[in-house]
Order: sequence, then structure tokens, then C-alpha cells
Amino acid sequence: MLSDKVLDNLPHEIRRRIEPYVEAVQLMTATKNPKVLKSMGPSGVRGLILQRGKQGVPTKMPSNHEVYFDWTYPNDQPEMRELYTRAKEQQWNGDDLPWHIDVDPENPEKPIIPRHFMDYDALRGRGIKLTDLEERRLNSSVAAWMLSQFLHGEQGALFAAAQVTEAVQFFDGKLYGATQVVDEGRHVEVFHRYLDSKMNKLYQINDNLFVIIDALIQDSRWDVKFLGMQIMVEGLALGAFGTLYQMTGEPMLKQLLKMVIQDEARHVHYGVIALRDHFRQELTDRERREREDWAFEVALLMRNRFLSFEVYEEWFEHKLTRKEWAQFVTDSPGFAIFRQVMFKRLVPNLREIGLLSDRIRPHYERAGLMQYAGGASATQLSGDQMLAELDAA
Ligand SMILES: [Fe+2]
Ligand SMILES: [Fe+2]
Repeated sequence: MLSDKVLDNLPHEIRRRIEPYVEAVQLMTATKNPKVLKSMGPSGVRGLILQRGKQGVPTKMPSNHEVYFDWTYPNDQPEMRELYTRAKEQQWNGDDLPWHIDVDPENPEKPIIPRHFMDYDALRGRGIKLTDLEERRLNSSVAAWMLSQFLHGEQGALFAAAQVTEAVQFFDGKLYGATQVVDEGRHVEVFHRYLDSKMNKLYQINDNLFVIIDALIQDSRWDVKFLGMQIMVEGLALGAFGTLYQMTGEPMLKQLLKMVIQDEARHVHYGVIALRDHFRQELTDRERREREDWAFEVALLMRNRFLSFEVYEEWFEHKLTRKEWAQFVTDSPGFAIFRQVMFKRLVPNLREIGLLSDRIRPHYERAGLMQYAGGASATQLSGDQMLAELDAA
């Protein structure tokens, strides 16, 4: 395999073309658990090498989970029934958001993300000088990129919620799941409408997000779908929504995020209660270890690789290497806060469902993620509490 040193010595144009493939191979060979490699590998090829999400045509993914019927309609999960009741009471209509508010993504008075989100001095240090207007435009691109990824994630959540509603054995979970399908449909609606009517921009799906969605939609095991969508993607999204909610100076987006956060808090809560007992009681040690490794790989994928390369390709492809861009984004103050809040939400949930055993903890430690392990899990925090915490900070 090409090492970083070899890459560093290649002419920029050649490097630019082969770097994404080198990264893909490095990523796929980093997985130590053969079962995880077997389940994630084909998704890695489809997402990172073939870039199926970026071909400009719809993607078709086969699904082969079992649909579970129960003709006795048991009241089997009081906590899920409670969430179902709460979800029905808290439904809202996307049309009622303040769409009349005029949004100018480049307006410095009401920035979608704050000026200091990216470290423009660091960019200058690499010889790239942007004008004031260009800096505002780049900020606006980064914001549109994030919102586009939220939207693509919501599409994944919509279909995953539908699959999980079919596949789970808890009847109360199925009723609850029906509300989540509606919630995710609404999230697709409002994020798309915002991007389309306020930002006039839509970025393609990030390859790494595609890999995760592809893997969980095609996996036949309901608990892996759950783990991937309800715990990992939704957990991280909840952190990301919260950060943007806190940072944004644009009132329409703030209101939109506030409504979405309340729904998402229920979704993650559901994921935690559905998996907690299942992982502890139903799985063999080996099966649990596989989930644990799978979750860790996904966490790393999101921490190391979710770095707006699509913005890089648009702006800096001929001026910076992907590695330099990755460093610039990783070090930027805005993304640092994002990472912190995302993992603060995610890691306690992994603990709660039993996927932070002594075996895996050193890996999280090395990745700098163990600092979040002691926080409140989704079962201990409602959407309102989460918002109050964000407003107070
Ligand atoms: Fe959602
Ligand atoms: Fe959700």
C-alpha cells in the first residue's frame, strides 16, 4: 500500500486523483474484527471506491430482514408505550415553521455558523488568502454541507425506521416506530425545504455517511440496524443538531432545529431501551463483541472522516492536499466543538447498552473518547432538558 511518505512526494495533480482511494484502502484494512470487515467491507467498496451515492442517479439497496407479525397485540413494553404516547402528543407540522423569515446565508449580522467556526489564520498560514466575502461564502458552504448531510442522514433514518418497525418483536415498539417514521419524513421535508428555499444549495452525500447507511440498511439483523441508526447516526446527529442550534445566528434555522431535537431525543431514547436488554440477555459474548467492534469502527469513521471533503473538492482541490484539508477542518474551532458535543451524546448511550466493556475501553481511550463515558444517556435526558442545557451554555 502507498504510504503517506510516498504520497507526499507525488506531484499534486496525481496525488489529488489517487488520495481518496488510498484513504479508502487504509480505512478498510484498519478493521481488526473479520466479522465487522465482512459486514462493512462491501459497503466500504460501494461508498468509498464506487461512490454510489454520487452518481447522480437513485441508489437501490436490497434489504433482507424478517418482518415480524404478532396477532395477539401484546402490551409488552411500557417504556416504549409511554414514548409512543408522548410522540403522538408532540407531533408538529413543518409548514408552521417561520418560513417567511428572509435568510441570506452570507449576511454577517445573522450568520448560519459563526465567523470563528473555521480558522482562517491557519488557512493563511498555508498560503491561502481569502477576502472577507470569500470567507463568508466558505462559511456558508460549510453550513450548507452540514445541513445537506443532515438531510441525507434523515433519508437514511426514514427508511431505517420503517425497516425496524417491521422487524422488531416488541409490539409497543412497532406502534412507537410508526411515529418515528412520520417524524423522519417531516425532518426530510424541513431540511430539504430549508436547503432548497433558503440556501439554494445541496451537497452530495459524504462517502463515509453513505457507507454507514448502506451497511445498516442491507444488514438483515434488526439490532445492527438499530445500533447503526438509532444509536450511532441519530446519537451523533443529536449532538450535531444541538451544536448548530447553539451556534447559529439565523432565527429560522434555530427554530427548525429546536423542533427536530425534541423528536430525535425520543428516537435515541427508543434505541437505548430496545437494545439495552437485548445486548445483555439475548446475545452470546461473541455476538456482543462483534457489535462492540462495529460501533467502534463507525465512531472512528465519524470522528476521523466526516470532514467536508465535498467542500474541499469545490474550493481547494488544486490548492491543498486532502490531508492538509483534513487537518485544517479537524483543527477548526467549530468542528472541534461539534466532535465534542456529538461524542458527549453518543458515548454514554454505548455504555448504557453494554457496548463499552473493559475490552474496548482502551480503544476509546486511545481515540480520546473515554472522557465522555460518564455523561447522561438518552434515557436520562428528555428533549426539553437537552434544549435547556443548550440554552444555558
Ligand atoms: Fe430525524
Ligand atoms: Fe431520528
